[in-house]
Amino acid sequence: MNKHPIGIFDSGVGGTSIWKKIQELLPYEYCIYLADSKHAPYGDKSADEILQLAIKNTEYLLDKDCKLIVVACNTATTNAINYLRNNYPIPFIGIEPAIKSAALNTRSKTVGVLATKGTLTSSLFHSTIQNHASNITIIEQQGKGLVELIESGNMNADETRMLLKTYVQPMLDKGIDYLVLGCTHYPYLIPLLKEMLPDDVKIIDSGEAVARQTKAILQKNRLLNTASTIGKQQFFTNTDAELLEYFVLSVPVDKEVRFLDF
Ligand code: DGL
Repeated sequence: MNKHPIGIFDSGVGGTSIWKKIQELLPYEYCIYLADSKHAPYGDKSADEILQLAIKNTEYLLDKDCKLIVVACNTATTNAINYLRNNYPIPFIGIEPAIKSAALNTRSKTVGVLATKGTLTSSLFHSTIQNHASNITIIEQQGKGLVELIESGNMNADETRMLLKTYVQPMLDKGIDYLVLGCTHYPYLIPLLKEMLPDDVKIIDSGEAVARQTKAILQKNRLLNTASTIGKQQFFTNTDAELLEYFVLSVPVDKEVRFLDF
C-alpha cells in the first residue's frame, strides 16, 4: 500500500501550487494530480454541486488505488471534506485559508482574506473564524474572475492586475497587515500582489502546512513510501494538457501530463 499514489485534485491548475510543496517535501511519493478545469470555477457553484464534483474526483482517484487524497482546493475542502472523510476509507487532507496563523501574528488586528464565494460562504470557514480569530477584524473579499484568468494562463496580464487591484486596495484602506490567500490558484498571483502591497503587508497561503500535514498523516498511518528513487508524477486534465504542463514546468522531475475525459 505504501507504494500506491497520493491523489491530489483541484478545480483546475491552481492545486499545482500545493503539488509543488508536496513534491518538494515528499520526493519519493508517486503523485496523481487531477485538474478538473472543465468544471472551473467551483467557487460560484452551489454547495451541492461542489460536493458532487468532489465525489467524482475522489472516486476517480480511488479507482487509481490512491492511498491518501489531498483536496488541493479550498472551495472543495470547505464544502465537501466532512462528507469525504465520513464516506471513504482512506485519509483526506484538506486545505483551508490560513486564518489561524494570520490571527496569531497580525499587529493591526485586521486581516484580509481573498477567496472564492464558495469558500467565504461555507460554514467551515465561519467556524474557523469563530474558533481562531474572534478578536480580529477579518476583511473578506471574493476574488470573482481571478480563477478564470489564471485558468486561461493570464496571471500576469494587465486585465488581471487591474482586477486584483480593485480587490486589494479596499483591504489596504482598512489597514490589513496580512493577506491570506484562500484559494490554491492565487499563489500564482504573488508576483502581481508584490507590486501592489506595501512591504509590511505579508502574504500567506497554506501550501507548506498542507505538505507537512500530508507527511504527518502518511507517517501516522504507516503509508510513507520508503523508495529511494524519485516518485512518478502523473497529471490529468479534462481540458488543455499544454496549459497544465505550463504550470508544472518549473519543477525538474519527469512527468506525464495528459488529457483525460473525467
Ligand atoms: N483552487 C480552488 C480553491 O482553492 C479554486 C476554486 C474555483 O474553482 O473557484 O478554492
